[in-house]
Amino acid sequence: MYRREQALKDLPGPKHPFLLGMMVDLVCRRDPHRYATELAEQYGPIFKFRLLIFHCVCITDPVLATQVLQSKVVDKLRFPYSFLDPFLGGENMLTGHTNEHWKAVRKAVAPAFSAGNMRCALGHIIDRSLALVEYLREKGPKTVHNMDTLLLRESMDVIGRFGFQREMNALKTLKSGEDSEDSTNVNSLLHGTHEIELRLQQINRWFRLWRKDARDGWVALGRFKSIIWKLLDHIKANPPQKGSFADLLLKAKDPKTGKQLSDELMFPEIAALFFAGIDTTGHTGTFILYLISQHPEVEKKILAELEELQLLKTAQNPKAREMTYADLSKLTYLNAVIKEGLRMYPPVAIGQLRVSYSHDITLGGQLSVPAGTVFWVPHHSIQNVSFNWDEPQKFLPERWLTPGTEYAVPEKLPLPREWYKGWDLSSPSAGKAPSIGLTEADMGNTDSRRPKRYFPFAEGPRNCVGQSLAKVSLVATMATLLQHFSFKLAEEMGGAEGVRATEQYTLVVGLANGMMMHAVPRQGDATPQLNGHAHTNGHAAHA
Ligand code: HEM
Repeated sequence: MYRREQALKDLPGPKHPFLLGMMVDLVCRRDPHRYATELAEQYGPIFKFRLLIFHCVCITDPVLATQVLQSKVVDKLRFPYSFLDPFLGGENMLTGHTNEHWKAVRKAVAPAFSAGNMRCALGHIIDRSLALVEYLREKGPKTVHNMDTLLLRESMDVIGRFGFQREMNALKTLKSGEDSEDSTNVNSLLHGTHEIELRLQQINRWFRLWRKDARDGWVALGRFKSIIWKLLDHIKANPPQKGSFADLLLKAKDPKTGKQLSDELMFPEIAALFFAGIDTTGHTGTFILYLISQHPEVEKKILAELEELQLLKTAQNPKAREMTYADLSKLTYLNAVIKEGLRMYPPVAIGQLRVSYSHDITLGGQLSVPAGTVFWVPHHSIQNVSFNWDEPQKFLPERWLTPGTEYAVPEKLPLPREWYKGWDLSSPSAGKAPSIGLTEADMGNTDSRRPKRYFPFAEGPRNCVGQSLAKVSLVATMATLLQHFSFKLAEEMGGAEGVRATEQYTLVVGLANGMMMHAVPRQGDATPQLNGHAHTNGHAAHA
């Protein structure tokens, strides 16, 4: 500890109480991701602090962040992830060390997210988005919807079908009511995932048994596990579709035994897939709808693009054509909107916590950081600090129309040049194909020597295995919803300030009370238009 303290003594950093370090500041804030960004603005691209006994270095310099995250001797800091294991049934691809077991599982299941499988996933995504359209249409424009919950349900349906060929009926049960078994299952899965996130943020929730919500939480967690066990029984009894996540998981080999994974090892992988996939994709879609609702000029451009591709019903084109896989990358502007949404609201906002137990790491060839020091690369901060971006607080999808926007801008890099030796710091657009839409760059084959300032799906070997599904889901769902509706923030949200005030981080960034919105049908859609702005209507019905 003394060695770490000495090695980091010249780094700037906030003052904090001796025993707890910055623990209280980080745990007590509803928005620790924004706090990290404030600290980065104050102390710069590399600063130090202590959390209990852990000496931490927070990095928002794109080059140093890339160096750490790509390093072969750096691993996940297991401590925070280990709190997830009891709920997910044990160590898994998301929470485990970067070891032989992780390698075997990741290698086995990664092909489930190949481009070929994404074509097949698109059918499910469009089908589920249309089910959501149908539901919103039936309810009418006066109804206030929690779009967050609806998008979480859509994500659950998609993951159930795509990964396990299992109907979750998360959208269907909205209509059929609360009494069915499906409905109980869906509610328990949603409640269970949320409860896990809350418990990671609020450790005292584990023990507050006198509180009804905490007791209900334990019940939901129990049900969450029993649903996953049933899902495991289902895939073992009904051979899953070849190449699907379930099929590949059943074929994966345990490196210790050379045999199929035991049920005890398979269970956490299934739980982790639901846990990692639903909230991230659902909340991102919610924030993107919100951003569009606040920027009518952006909505107009998305509609113009849909119209140009004949994907929008208009007087001249009364029968819009069906969306195809090829359309996804042609929706250049919508892709830019989604990237900008992911820049401003990366769901895993707190980012990546890493450590090397075996090696000292010399950052940028200049600063030797002793083994055992925690490296923290907060995604919200790297994607929102003013030394990495121009006007980071502004929603500007247009910035993504310039090729290579995800890469660091050499002229803006905040440290002296000697820290960046050996890196490809060519200007972002130099000789590169535009990385807009579902290009190779987006699918993960990026230039590893070019440091990035944008990686909502994480950087390095532990990046998001499901990112291709998330990207296809977001583009197809947003396009389908916007084909039919304009979304207006409900009055009760209290405008942009209200949204900001209820933004909360519980492992992923969401909203304390959801995102209440009206879905106003577009001209020519089956139901009549709402007169005036939906959010000025004082007699809203709730769904
Ligand atoms: C907008 C949507 C999503 C975002 C922004 C996102 C982001 C991330 C990030 C940042 C990580 C690294 C976490 C860490 O190191 O602590 C990660 C890992 C992971 N994600 Fe995603 N994710 C999304 C959607 C999905 C989906 C749809 C799935 C699967 C259905 C998925 C499955 C996983 C898994 C299994 C891991 C662990 C990978 C490993 O460590 O090898 N994610 N994701």
